[in-house]
Order: sequence, then C-alpha cells, then structure tokens
Amino acid sequence: MGDMDLMLKPHAICIPFPAQGHINPMLKLAKILHSKGFYITFINTEFNHRRLCKVLGTDTLNRHPSFKFETIPDGLPPTENFDVTQDIPSLCKSTSETCLEPFKKLISRLNDTTTIPPVSCIVSDGVMSFTLDVADELGIPEVLFWTTSACGFLAYAHYNTLMEKGLFPLKDYADLTNGYLDTTLDFIPSMKGIRLKDMPSFVRSTDPDEFMVKFPIRETRRAKKASAIILNTFEELEHDVLNELSSIYSKVYSIGPLHTLENNMKNDDLQFLSSSLWKEETECLKWLDSKESNSVVYVNFGSIAVMTPEQLVEFSWGLANSNQTFLWIIRPDLVSRDSPMLPPEFLEATKDRGLLASWCPQEKVLNHPSVGGFLTHSGWNSTLESISSGVPMICWPFFADQQTNCWFSCNEWGIAMEIDSDVDRKQVQKLVTMLMVEEKGEEMRQMAMVWKRKAESMSSSMNIESLIKHVLLRS
Ligand code: UDX
Repeated sequence: MGDMDLMLKPHAICIPFPAQGHINPMLKLAKILHSKGFYITFINTEFNHRRLCKVLGTDTLNRHPSFKFETIPDGLPPTENFDVTQDIPSLCKSTSETCLEPFKKLISRLNDTTTIPPVSCIVSDGVMSFTLDVADELGIPEVLFWTTSACGFLAYAHYNTLMEKGLFPLKDYADLTNGYLDTTLDFIPSMKGIRLKDMPSFVRSTDPDEFMVKFPIRETRRAKKASAIILNTFEELEHDVLNELSSIYSKVYSIGPLHTLENNMKNDDLQFLSSSLWKEETECLKWLDSKESNSVVYVNFGSIAVMTPEQLVEFSWGLANSNQTFLWIIRPDLVSRDSPMLPPEFLEATKDRGLLASWCPQEKVLNHPSVGGFLTHSGWNSTLESISSGVPMICWPFFADQQTNCWFSCNEWGIAMEIDSDVDRKQVQKLVTMLMVEEKGEEMRQMAMVWKRKAESMSSSMNIESLIKHVLLRS
C-alpha cells in the first residue's frame, strides 16, 4: 500500500504537445495544480524526455514523490539528432495518428499501480484531442489547454467560416503576392478589421486536403467535447475574444500569464524542474546588469522559426545600422539549409555593443530593467512574457497563430510594430530606432506598462480555483 495522504490526492495527467512553446506553459500549470494538492503525471514524448534529461540531469526529473514524468513515443521515425526542433506539421500528424494507443496503455498501467492514486482527470494540449477518447472511456473530466492566444484559438475556430465563404484555401499561388491576403474580414466578432493574412498562417494553403488545413478544423471542432477549454491569457487583455469563445464553447477559462502565477507561488518545492529543451546560457544576465535601463534590444525568434541565410544578413545589418545595443539569441537551427553564418564585418562593427548567445533564460531577460524592446517572432509565450514585463515589440511573425498575435499586439494592444515578412535591413534599422529612441517607442512602452499592471490582476488565479472546483475535481 502507498502512503495514505498520497493515495488520497486527486491525480491529474498533464500531456503537452511535444514542442517547447507547449511544454513550458503546461509544466507551469502542472506545478500550480501540484501546489493545490494534485498528484501529477507529466507525459512527454521519448524524444523530448531525452532532451530534458540531457539539460537537467537524468536523476532530476523524478525526484519528487507526487510529481512524476512518463513517456510515450511521438510516432516519428527514429533519429540520432536530438538537439533540433522537430517538424511541426509532421508532429501534428504523427501524434494524432499514433499516440492514442500508447497513451491508453500508459493510463491503464498507472491505474493498475497500487502505490499511486487512480487517475482522476486529464489536462491535455488542445491539439492532442485524441486524449478525449480516454477520458470518455474512464468517465473522468478532461480539460483542453490551447497554448495559443485566445485570439489565435478563435481564428482557428473560424477556419471553417473562411472556407464556407470561399476565402480559403487560396485559388492560386498568385494570391500570395497579388494583395488578396490584404482582404479585410468583418464577420468575426471581436476581430473586426483583421486581414486574411493575419489569420493563422495555414490560410496561405491552396490545397483543401492539406493536413494543416484540416487539422485545426478538426481539433477546434473536437474541442467542444472537452469538459472545459483553458487559455494562457487574462480577461483584461482578451476580454471580447474570450466572450466570443464562450458563445462557441461551453466553459472557457483564462488562467494566465501562467509564468507570473507560477512565480507568485509560495513554497515552490519543484523549483528544480524546468522545461527548457536547450541549455540556458545565463552569462547574458550579467552582461545586461552592466547596461543602462531600457537600453538593450532583445532579439529572439523562439523555438521553431527558421529564416534564410539572406534574412539573417538583413537582420544583422539592420541591427548594426541602428546603432543600438542588442542581445541576439541565435538557435543552432535558426537558419534553413545551413548553420547560422553572420558576416564578419557585422561582428567587427558591433563587438562593443552586441552580445550573441544560442539560448537564454528568456523570462529573466525580458524582466531585466536593461531590456527596452523585443524583436520577436510573436510566439504566444514570448508575447505574453513581453506583455507581463512591460516590454514593447517589433514583430516578425513566422507561422501558425503568430500572425494573429502580431495583429493584436499592433492594432488592439498598442504595444508593437510589424516588420514585413520579406525583411530588409533599412526597415529593421528604422523600426529598431523607433522602438528604442523615438516617441512612438516610448508610447508603446507606456502602454506595455499598463498591460503589465493589468496582467497582475487576480482574475486568473480565481479562474484556476474555479476550474479546479467545478471541473477537475468533478469526478
Ligand atoms: C510556437 C507558437 O508560436 C506559439 O504561439 C504556439 O502556441 C506554440 O508554438 P515558439 O516558437 O516555441 O512557439 O515560441 P513561443 O510561444 O514564444 O515559446 C517559446 C518559449 O521558449 C518561451 O516560453 C520562451 O521564454 C522560451 N525561450 C525561448 C527561452 O526560454 N529561451 C530562448 O532563448 C528562447
């Protein structure tokens, strides 16, 4: 028999989609649930588990008696290279087609183990809706965690409407460049004036049968079967969008910014657990200590975005010519076809005011007083981390909901400016200068500070309490 107190705990299964931007918020939520008395089983893919063990040390992950890690295969062919981002469409396809059986087996093994409490609820990534079948079979509640913004999720939920109206898929490749994507949409309440190009990037497809066209439609439809939907956002930021979502889905909870809530947790006995898949280079924090307040542009394109060698060169000369101090994080796999190569003349020209690294503790960097602006790909975690640090942005959205996050950051929240996808050094120079030293940048910084204060409101922690009481503990 197991420890009596442990056996009485509710047992939540937390299963993120296997990518950095999904694992991070899921781990934070899992820690919060743990602090509220849950026994947690956190499920990673074997691939990511191996990466986490490499970063944290193999013995670290399962150190806590009521917070355990398990794995399932991701269904992709085996590989020797564990330090790179996996292809996202392939992962979406393989997880949705192959993970149900191993997930089922794992849950029944856990339920057969007499030393841990029986599984009582599932918290699954929104794009892993195959997990709903297991919750259904066991008769336990399942919450779907969409790690996108609420506006990104709503935009996906409207893919169907776009199709019905014949706006998408595109008729022709020419539509990518002939201005068609500038069509404004006025039929999505709470997103009036948004352009087709600001919808999640898969609207750029010309093939109705393409997997990444059908997948979001299927997942947003299946989401209606969940006991509730949760989003890493806060009411004040996405009020109208959240209202609109509540008219489509019966229970929607905004529970973010999770990193702020996690940091406010008292007695965090799980501090040793982090979810970074790359080793963080912390030297940049000391370097930031030596800089003046709001004087550094922080440049980071997240965990998935890839650029061409030419785009890398445009960004580098734009930064150099802006004459601003910068911290630029260049992931080893940031550049397509090749390892990132910066022009030697650029390195020489910026050696006194630029710092390069390959992965950093981003939340700490954004919270550092020296950071005054963020050149970002508009991933939702990065956007939310920037908002809750009061840092204005320049957005270069790459794919998925990043286009939508960019539009909201620029047009609704007043804290960002967009760079053309076809980036050129003159525009980078101009926008970086505006962000760091001109009036417009200062206005956006003030606005970002307003959002930062709103992000500290209590609404999300109350929503978490009510999610636990009314949904997760229901069985
Ligand atoms: C993508 C999407 O754009 C996002 O909107 C979607 O919901 C999930 O997948 P990604 O490229 O991973 O995201 O970006 P982002 O969502 O910003 O997440 C990156 C995470 O990695 C952030 O939490 C960030 O703090 C962290 N990070 C990034 C680091 O800790 N160090 C780094 O150097 C870079």
